[in-house]
Amino acid sequence: MRISVIGCGYLGAVHASAMAELGHQVIGIDVDERKIAALAAGRPPFYEPGLPEILASATASGRLRFSTDIADAADADVHFLAVGTPQVPGSGAADLSYVDAAFESLLPHLGEGALVVGKSTVPVGTAARLASRLRADAPHASLAWNPEFLREGFAVKDTLEPDRLVYGVAADHAASMLDQIYRAAIEAGTPRIVTDYATAELVKVAANSFLATKISFINAMSEIADATGADVTALADAIGHDARIGRRFLNAGVGFGGGCLPKDIRAFTARADELGLGDSLGFLKEVDAINLRQRQRVVDLAIEALGGSAFRKKIAVLGVTFKPESDDVRDSPALDVAVQLKGLGAEVVATDPEGLENARLRHPQLDYTSSTHDALRDAELVVLVTEWREYRALDPEEAGRLVAGRRIIDGRNVLDPVAWRAAGWVYRGLGRP
Ligand code: UDX
Repeated sequence: MRISVIGCGYLGAVHASAMAELGHQVIGIDVDERKIAALAAGRPPFYEPGLPEILASATASGRLRFSTDIADAADADVHFLAVGTPQVPGSGAADLSYVDAAFESLLPHLGEGALVVGKSTVPVGTAARLASRLRADAPHASLAWNPEFLREGFAVKDTLEPDRLVYGVAADHAASMLDQIYRAAIEAGTPRIVTDYATAELVKVAANSFLATKISFINAMSEIADATGADVTALADAIGHDARIGRRFLNAGVGFGGGCLPKDIRAFTARADELGLGDSLGFLKEVDAINLRQRQRVVDLAIEALGGSAFRKKIAVLGVTFKPESDDVRDSPALDVAVQLKGLGAEVVATDPEGLENARLRHPQLDYTSSTHDALRDAELVVLVTEWREYRALDPEEAGRLVAGRRIIDGRNVLDPVAWRAAGWVYRGLGRP
């Protein structure tokens, strides 16, 4: 099929490349000239394992092109809207200006029978509003909502082999067109849920709210564990064996961040308030509050480990991204902890395998190094806040020879407390005795 993807950020760049990988003829559109130039040259403007390979092969084959001119999308049968819906500053609500601008700019270029497919995460009701706009100004085109569940770090695999496909449609032919696009996944047995617009929009925010709730639940348990001498990791293992609960997303630590979970639960809460249903989603405010409290707990543990003050003490912060296998520092708990410690007068040196460039842009006041050794050297305290493989594999003896004080806060509960304590370290995790 001939496909356009409007918006070439994390979601759109991966989606465009994956659709070309499936054999479709794809054009990626974005207003950002630098981003388009990089993508057209086969270089993703962000770190995502597996993306450089499929982007390079798709651009070389001629199946994938990029442009800043929306008119170049006119030939496509299907147009995916993959622009961002960031948080409105000072409010929890989603900013729909990019969705609306992309949609409006596309309207004059919609051919006979074209299908517009929303992928962006939007407040429930958005698709119905855009559909009525189509009925008024482009009645020859139709709309579907097809939320995306990809995880950063696994985005290519999640797009090519999704857990499920969700279509919010108002007519059968829209579902048939999406079936043609996703034929490979459907033939591989991927479950497909065909529903209405509102349900499709809600599936996305409900899934992310559930995941966020699961993380905050276990983080709340970690607070109880700390107060009672219990071990939250053993607790998670034990409750996780119940198939109804499941072990995944029960890792206590510094909490969730990134471009989706934090903003999605806030936008969902704001939308519920608009619908007069604020009480129904009141618990998501608590989920957010527990999550933010975890960052404070890590900072408090750091100060405690340093005997009450971080002033002029060198602290090595391991990790700045919101999770491993990503260079994304949006709403990163790791970076937030580093900034707070710096604000308390510490000499913070942060390191990360992929995130330093983005971190520098946001927080130029911090010191960064790409070398874990340099970060550790002469540090009074080590704070592990993103569980990159190389930090999990640190040897306590070797690290101990570099630092000035053997103190470590394991903000992701990924190190073995017994091994670190045996090497003479003061070890503190979250909810671990
Ligand atoms: C998430 C959803 O998983 C994905 O389906 C959706 O499409 C977009 O949002 P992503 O933001 O890439 O994906 O990250 P994810 O792997 O879900 O992790 C989110 C955050 O939760 C990270 O900061 C991670 O460190 C944290 N997390 C995850 C925990 O603190 N504990 C856990 O047990 C799991």
